[in-house]
Formats: sequence, structure tokens, C-alpha cells
Amino acid sequence: MGKVVICDHPLIQHKLTFIRDVQTNVKEFRELVDEVATLMAYEITRELPLEDKHVQTPVAVAKGKIISGRMLGLIPILRAGLGMVDGILKLIPAAEVGHIGLYRDPSTLQPVEYYVKLPADVHERELIVIDPMLATGGSAAAAIAILKKHGCTKIKLMCLIAAPKGLEYIRAEHPDVDIYTAAVDQRLNEHGYIVPGLGDAGDRLFGTKASR
Ligand code: PRP
Ligand code: URA
Repeated sequence: MGKVVICDHPLIQHKLTFIRDVQTNVKEFRELVDEVATLMAYEITRELPLEDKHVQTPVAVAKGKIISGRMLGLIPILRAGLGMVDGILKLIPAAEVGHIGLYRDPSTLQPVEYYVKLPADVHERELIVIDPMLATGGSAAAAIAILKKHGCTKIKLMCLIAAPKGLEYIRAEHPDVDIYTAAVDQRLNEHGYIVPGLGDAGDRLFGTKASR
């Protein structure tokens, strides 16, 4: 069974509180999401394998470590996942980025696919699926299923806020996937929004309408 990692570093928790705050404007929201994504990338890459590398310092030869040639891929779920991409690329600049476009039908809450563009060698890469919100889990589960159809086997999921229902759903549908989240909230409301959550992540990132 995949693990659920709560990224409880004080810097992440501090910034998440301001991300949630309805008073936080679009500019600040974007900046904070970007910063938290960088901090979470630090956590999600913790188990990357290392190999030895010797370098000459000005004084002597030092036996150092470097990440051993892993091919990584970031897969943001459009739109809101885009807000976390640059923050992760700051730490993993060589990662390739694939995009999966899904929106949640407001009445059925089912994900609707509208765009998929993946790196040609996506099946050879270790992938991080990125979406700030894991509510029912339908969108993330659908994105992971699309990747598995393309032959991908090494997949992690990164979100900012998860609902218990979404965690359960991913663990049932994709028990091989590790989930990294900054918080697990109480529940979903009647519109399928996470309570207390942060509202509509896409709208708050892109300023498209007032959050519910
Ligand atoms: C939001 C969010 C997730 C999804 C989560 O996207 O970014 O993709 O809802 O809900 P779920 O776990 O119940 O599937 P939305 O459909 O609002 O699209 P957007 O990012 O384009 O705003
Ligand atoms: N999508 C969002 O953007 N926010 C939620 O709370 C749930 C789904």
C-alpha cells in the first residue's frame, strides 16, 4: 500500500495558513503556492538514490554524492496544478513536464478529460502528479489512470490539501501511489468543496471568479 505523507514542516504549515485565508489576494496566493511547492518538492525527493562523486576542492579530493541519473517527470492537472510546477522545477530543473487537462463536472463531480500531452518517454520516468486539491479524488485518480495506460509505473501524487474521501479513493484505486499532502481537512461540503479548504484553487490562482 502506498504511503500518505503529511508535509508538516513549520514553513509549509505557516504558508498554507495564508494560502487558505480568503483575504490573500491572487498575487500573494500564487507566490505562496509556488513557495510551498518548492518546500514539498524537498520532501518528495527525499528518497532519490545517490551515487558517489569525487570532486577536487581547493584543498583536497572530497567524496561527494550526486543524484544518480533519475529521469523525473512532473504532471500537473490543469488548471490548478500549474501553480505548483515552477516551484518544483526550482529544485528539479531537468524534469520534463506533461499536462493532463481535467475539469470536474459541477453537478456529477466526475472528471472530464480535455487535454493530454506527455513526454515521449513518460513510461520510463518517475512521475509526480500535481494538483493542489484532492477532494473526491476523481480527478487525480483519472490522471493516474491515464498515465498507467501510457505504461507509467512509478507515480507519486502531490497536493496541498486532501479530504479523507479523496485519500481513501486514491488508496483504493491506486494502492501503489504514495501521496504527499500539506494537510488533511475535515470533509467535503454539498458542492464537493473541501472544508475548510481554500476555496476553488484554479479560480484563486488565476483570478477567474470569487471563491465559494
Ligand atoms: C479542481 C482541483 C482538482 C479537482 C479536485 O479542479 O484543481 O483538479 O478540482 O476535485 P476532485 O478530487 O473531486 O476531482 P477543477 O475541476 O475545479 O478545474 P480547474 O483546476 O480548471 O479549476
Ligand atoms: N476543487 C477545488 O478547487 N477546491 C475544492 O475544495 C475542491 C475541488
